[in-house]
Amino acid sequence: MTLIAPSLLAADFLKLQSECEMINSSAADWLHLDVMDGAFVPNISFGPMVIEFVHKIVNKPCDVHLMIEQPGRYAQEFKNAGADHLTIHIEACPMLHQDISQIKSLGMKAGVAVNPHTPVSFLSDILHEIDIVNLMSVNPGFGGQKFIPYTLEKIKQLKQMIRERNLNVLIEIDGGVTIENAKEIIDAGADVLIAGSTVFKADDPISVIEKLKAI
Ligand code: DX5
Ligand code: ZN
Repeated sequence: MTLIAPSLLAADFLKLQSECEMINSSAADWLHLDVMDGAFVPNISFGPMVIEFVHKIVNKPCDVHLMIEQPGRYAQEFKNAGADHLTIHIEACPMLHQDISQIKSLGMKAGVAVNPHTPVSFLSDILHEIDIVNLMSVNPGFGGQKFIPYTLEKIKQLKQMIRERNLNVLIEIDGGVTIENAKEIIDAGADVLIAGSTVFKADDPISVIEKLKAI
C-alpha cells in the first residue's frame, strides 16, 4: 500500500491550524515538512519553530525534509521540534555517514534526498544505514513544478538495488506528483508519494488524498 505524505509548503499559512486538522481527518499517512535555507536552495521556507507548533496538533508522523547546508548542525533542534523522520541531502553532506548516525542516535528515522542530477548509484554505500530515500522529481526549492519523467527510471534502478540487497528502505517521490501521474510512479516502485499543490490547492483536499491513496 502506497503511503501519502501531503507537503505543508503548499498550505495556506494563515489557516495553518485548519490545514493541520484537515490532515488529521484525512487518509494521509505522514505530513511532509520542507525546510529551506536560501543557500542550499534559492528559497527560504520555515524552520523548527513552525514545526514545533504543527507537531503539537498533527497526529501523523512528521516527515521533515531539510534542504539546508550542513544539516547536522540542526538535527537535535528538529528532534526537539517533533521530527519523526529527518531527511538530508546527499549534495549537502560531505560527512553523510556521520550525519545519518547522528539522526539515528537521536531516535529519528533517517532519510537521504537526491537531486534530479544525482545518480541513485551514489547511495550504494549508505543504503543499508538508512530508512528512506527521497528521490527529488523536481529541482528542490519550490512547490508547483512539473514532474521530471527520468525520475521513473531512477525509481526502478533504486528499487532493484533495494530488492537485491533485501533492505527495508522506503522510496519517496517528491515534486510534481498529481492524480494523473501517480499510477506510473507507483508502478515504477515508489512507496511514498509526497504531494503539495495537488493536495493543498485542491477544492477538496480530503478527497484528493483519498484518490491518491486508492491508486
Ligand atoms: C520541493 C519540496 C517538495 C514540494 C512539493 O523542493 O521538497 O516537497 O513541497 O510540492 P509539489 O507537490 O507542489 O511539487
Ligand atoms: Zn520535500
